[in-house]
Amino acid sequence: MVNNDSSQFPLLAASGLCKSFGGIKAVQDAEIQVPASSITGLIGPNGAGKTTLFNLLSNFIRPDKGRVIFDGEPIQHLQPHQIAQQGLVRTFQVARALSRLSVLENLMLAAQKQTGENFWQVQLQPHVVAKEEKQHREQAMLILESVGLAHKAYDYAGGLSGGQRKLLEIGRALMTNPKLILLDEPAAGVNPRLIDEICDRIVNWNKAGMTFLIIEHNMDVIMSLCDRVWVLAEGKNLANGTPEEIQCNAKVLEAYLGQ
Ligand SMILES: Nc1ncnc2c1ncn2[C@@H]1O[C@H](COP(=O)(O)OP(=O)(O)OP(=O)(O)O)[C@@H](O)[C@H]1O
Ligand SMILES: [Mg+2]
Repeated sequence: MVNNDSSQFPLLAASGLCKSFGGIKAVQDAEIQVPASSITGLIGPNGAGKTTLFNLLSNFIRPDKGRVIFDGEPIQHLQPHQIAQQGLVRTFQVARALSRLSVLENLMLAAQKQTGENFWQVQLQPHVVAKEEKQHREQAMLILESVGLAHKAYDYAGGLSGGQRKLLEIGRALMTNPKLILLDEPAAGVNPRLIDEICDRIVNWNKAGMTFLIIEHNMDVIMSLCDRVWVLAEGKNLANGTPEEIQCNAKVLEAYLGQ
């Protein structure tokens, strides 16, 4: 009998992923699994291939080889925006807010399936476009409250601090109603008080059912947030385990010390 209980399978499972840039083997036969409702960590020394792996999972870069299954379906033939529509979104190591737009507008632009982007629908159904925009505005305001930026809604995004830009990036991801968010270094360049706030918010979103895969060099963040941690070194899987197991894994310590 076929067992259709999807809870037995990871929400995201990638295997055999390879990517070379010229002579550099950035990712070599890598695998990763992210269970639904987990906070999974991805760590490794600088240049280990973590961001490249994110790019491969979300198809911002096409793999040379490998397989990515998201929510039970292969996704490597899809474009990044189609993958986002399926519920897999990512943030960038360097936050990519549109500085000249307001914080609220940045969020509204991230909403999916905007009728207002279609010229003819704007001409033929202005009321539909107006209704959709109102819904997006309301959703964006709720998300701004959830990321703690409601008081900045009408400020230029360019005026936000590094940490606030990271929160805006997460807010933009939340606007797409995702199932899984890939966060690339959410704590990098963020002041310690705001790091604690970002972590608390991630825990709360996770309790509400959101799944996260997080790249981070800040080990306190990884150790406090993650259920399981995957380690990459020189593009290859080095280890995976609970934070406690990874913390005292001799191969992992050696890879970091050898940096
Ligand atoms: N577009 C590219 N063209 C050429 N080489 C690249 C490209 N992207 C990444 N690389 C190389 O691939 C390797 C892995 O880079 P990647 O950015 O994935 O590492 P990382 O683990 O995210 O590092 P960090 O912790 O510093 O962000 C590095 O040697 C990097 O220089
Ligand atoms: Mg990186």
